[in-house]
Amino acid sequence: MNELIITSDGSHSLHSTRFGVSYHSRFGAIQESQHIFMEAALRYKAVMQEELAVLELGFGTGLNAFLTLLEAEKRNLRISYVTLEAFPVALETAQQFNYAEQLGLPEANSRFQELHQLSWDVPHQVNDTFRFLKLNQKFEELDFTNHFDVVYFDAFAPNAQPELWEQPVLERIYRAMRPGAVLTTYCAKGSVKRNFRSLGMEVEALPGPPGKREMTRVHKPQKGD
Ligand SMILES: C[S@@+](CC[C@H](N)C(=O)[O-])C[C@H]1O[C@@H](n2cnc3c(N)ncnc32)[C@H](O)[C@@H]1O
Repeated sequence: MNELIITSDGSHSLHSTRFGVSYHSRFGAIQESQHIFMEAALRYKAVMQEELAVLELGFGTGLNAFLTLLEAEKRNLRISYVTLEAFPVALETAQQFNYAEQLGLPEANSRFQELHQLSWDVPHQVNDTFRFLKLNQKFEELDFTNHFDVVYFDAFAPNAQPELWEQPVLERIYRAMRPGAVLTTYCAKGSVKRNFRSLGMEVEALPGPPGKREMTRVHKPQKGD
């Protein structure tokens, strides 16, 4: 159902035959994840607070979760990480991903594999800095209120899955965010930005990773803004 591919920075990704799209930019999976989620969301928020609740929409290859775990260890953050995934990648496929090797940290591969192997729908304390909950659930069923400081919105693009970028799902995400929380996405489509604005979010256009002119960061207003 998924084909293993190599992106231009040498890191693996998958091509989904179910949705007809790839999981990452073909210009570089690690590069894209570092730029959109680590730099524009996690590090941006970590400057203000060391304890962060992070929500990822789409666990997929586990790359964002892995980079966040490494970042938490490096910066001594305390992260509580929740990720939703309706169509988990097979463990045999995950075993082939070269992320630890590409990051120059082959010894970290066992920690990456552990993220895939840990059971679904049960919270795990992976180490002192990283609490981890994988929910085998649809984005359409997201059910948290005022909980997250950072959201990685990593659904497939609106042309592949338009329903995930429209009001009913975005309202659930908005509700799950704390006042002052940020969300980032690679998507810079006008209609998506309008949907965020109509929920009362502040929308920022930022330079995208190589191969992509623009990306989006949105902010849930602080109370009283
Ligand atoms: C663009 S991929 C990114 C995944 C991941 N962040 C990564 O770096 O590999 C989107 C992910 O969303 C998942 N997905 C698609 N539709 C979904 C839905 N309705 N609910 C939950 N997950 C969904 C896909 O299976 C896929 O893993």
